[in-house]
Parts: sequence; C-alpha cells; structure tokens
Amino acid sequence: MIQNYGDDQHRSRASIQFNRPSLGTTELRYISQALASGHRHGDGSFTARCHEWLVARTNCRVALLTTSCTTALEMAAILAGVGPGDEVVMPSYTFVSTANAFVLRGATPVLVDVDPATQNIDPEQVERAITPRTKAIVPVHYAGVACDMDALCAIARRHGLLLIEDAAQALLSTYRGRPLGSFGQLGTISFHDTKNTSSGEGGALLVNDPALVERAYVIRDKGTNRHQMLRGEVDKYTWCDVGSSFLPSEVTAAFLLAQLEASDATAESRRHTWQTYHRAFAAAEAQGLVRRPFIPPGCEHNGHIYYLILPSTAARGVFLARMKERGISAPFHYVPLHDSPAGRRFGRVGGSLAATEIAGSRLIRLPLWRDMPAEVVSTVIAEVWNVLTELKIASLAEEDASGVSRADGRDAPRPAAADTACAHSPSTPAPAP
Ligand SMILES: Cc1ncc(COP(=O)(O)O)c(C=O)c1O
Repeated sequence: MIQNYGDDQHRSRASIQFNRPSLGTTELRYISQALASGHRHGDGSFTARCHEWLVARTNCRVALLTTSCTTALEMAAILAGVGPGDEVVMPSYTFVSTANAFVLRGATPVLVDVDPATQNIDPEQVERAITPRTKAIVPVHYAGVACDMDALCAIARRHGLLLIEDAAQALLSTYRGRPLGSFGQLGTISFHDTKNTSSGEGGALLVNDPALVERAYVIRDKGTNRHQMLRGEVDKYTWCDVGSSFLPSEVTAAFLLAQLEASDATAESRRHTWQTYHRAFAAAEAQGLVRRPFIPPGCEHNGHIYYLILPSTAARGVFLARMKERGISAPFHYVPLHDSPAGRRFGRVGGSLAATEIAGSRLIRLPLWRDMPAEVVSTVIAEVWNVLTELKIASLAEEDASGVSRADGRDAPRPAAADTACAHSPSTPAPAP
C-alpha cells in the first residue's frame, strides 16, 4: 500500500505529493530571534545576513530581498527603463511573471522558442527576433539548468541589449562554474514554496551592474532614499523616484536565512533523487517511450525539476489520468504564453514555436523533494514504468488494428508524423549533475 505523502489534503488527494517544502529546526529559532529583536519590518539584521549569503553564493554585486520573484522582475523592468514601443525577448515557455513585469511598463514581450533538448531559450531564435525596438533579453533557466550563456551574452553584447536572467528556479546552479544570476546586468530568484529554498513567498533581485545599484535601493523602498538615511548619509529621507514596497519583513527573512543555510544539503538531496529517476528512465528513452532532460556540458544544476516528455499530446493525457488514478501527482508545467489570452493580447510571437508547443503539450514533472524516501522514489518509478508499458501496449494494439507494420523493428510505439519529440534526443549522455 502506498503511504500517504500528501501534505495538503484540500489541494490534492494524491498520496504522493509533487512537492513537500523542506523545513528544518533553525527556521523557528531564527524567527523567535527576529521577534525578540523588536525589529519586524524590513531591512533588519536577518535581511542583511540573507543579502550577505546571496552575494557570497551568487557572486552578484548587490542582492536585495523582495516579496517574490514576480516583484524582483517588476523591479528589473523598472531598472531596464523600458516603456511603450520597446520589446523584450523571452521564451514563450515560462511563467507569466517573466512577461507580465514588462507588460506593466508598457513594453511588448517577444515570445521565442526553446531548445527542445533543454526547454531553455534558443539563442538563434533570440537573434532572429531582435529589432531596432529590442531593449532586453530575458533568459529563463528552466528546471535550474543554465541557458546557453556564452551565446546569449555574446548576442546581448553585439546588439547592446540588457540581459536580465530569470533565475527563479536556479539558486546554486552554475554555468561553466559561475553561478546563475551573475551573468546579466540583473538576475531574479524565487523563494516560493515550490522552489528548493523557500520562505513561503519570497524572492531576490541580484544586481550585477554597478550603475543600477543606487536606483535599485530606491525603487525597492517606495521610491525613497531611505537606504541613505539608514547608512547615515542623509538625516531624513524623501521621495526620489518611482518605486513600491518590494521588501519582505524580518520574520520572512529570518525563515529564509535558515533555508539558505540548508540549501546546499537540499540541492544535494534533490540531485540524488533526480539522478535516480534519470537512471531509471534511460531504457524508456532508448525505447522511444519518453525523452529525458538533457544537461549540457558545463552546467551544474540544483535538482529542481525532473521532467519527462511523452511522445504525443494524447499519450500525456492518458499518462496524467493514469498517474492520478494511482495517487501520484505528476503535473504538467507551463501553458506557453503565446497560447494564453494575455500573451496574445500583450505579446508578439518571434518565429516558430515548435519546441515550445511540444513542451507545453507533452511535458510532465515527477514528485521531487528534499529527503524523499527511497521507497517513495521506487514507487513513483515503478508506477511510471507501469503507465508507460500500458501506453506502449495500447499503441501497439492500435498499430495492429490499423495494419501498420513496425518496419523499423523497434519495440516501441511510433510517434505520429508531427510527433517527433523523441527524435530530438541528444546523442550525448547527460553528465552527472
Ligand atoms: C520562471 C519563473 N519566473 C518567475 C516566477 C515567479 O516566482 P514567484 O512565485 O516567486 O513570484 C516563477 C514561479 O514559479 C517561475 O517559474
């Protein structure tokens, strides 16, 4: 019998939950200290310690805690100085906040395709989408795996564009040994409950360009120079610029500090489960039943997401239903922005979105959390294999009924003509993360 690993019976009746936010014992201790200090609003000692930790571990010039990655992106859009008529190139396969932040400034998101092997923005598509109106590129490091930063940095330099990394999922991930979030002029991180390291809701803006630092402080604190007063540089603060209240309370920062201090162990544990899944589904990929994530050389990831790509949209529909029957939460991910009402209203498509359509209609994610018990991982693996085998048998039966012979001799369902997901499988095996 499957043990109940659900933590929120109102949200889902799954016995094996997709995510279980990690919680240590230090969180409560730090929160008690924050309460005892009497300083509960923002920018106290716990916030300062989170900033120091982030600067040390992401190599950014200045880190600023925000209430979410969404608000960090909104700060980035203000700092980018974009407005009506400006264009910002980003993947269509992302969360709404990546685009919404720029739409709030009146700019147009230009939605481009992803690399089918990584689900990360395709640099060739980025370059093709650039016009005289383009002001910035916003790569999203999907599943905590780095985009092709060599190519993207070169494109941004060549065209004089800002690079703003949406590193919502990528804390502690690196590209050629360098932390994600440190390549662009700006980077953003999420500490939402669904992320490896969380404060329930939370985020950070990483500022790498020294020219943007002072304005970032002002924007984060209601458009005032309160930070200068706190540093003793002025004796009273005043309204200087646009801004909002983007900073979290000390209680949130205290919780987050404990999570940051545990984040190496969290990533280690998640990578272990990630690897177990990856090994378990190698044969399924070899048979053409699924496509597994590809980790390009030079990328160290944080084990944020383990996903599989099914051979067709119909196969994913059956897969989702069968996993639900088995009490295992294995959700799909983004609805591509170009397919959403607001994406159609505010955005513009830049080129073909073939790989995005595939990710949007065939990708599923497997349960993954820190310290996931080995028997739970084994149950998920066994049930995924059971469902894949059922799909394979159904597909073979269909072929027999339609009189289609398997001329290629492979013991696997043949994708329909347009369903070439598995044809994209990289031939190079993924290195250990
Ligand atoms: C790529 C990406 N950007 C931004 C966000 C928004 O993060 P938050 O919930 O912290 O606002 C998410 C959320 O999952 C995300 O996946």
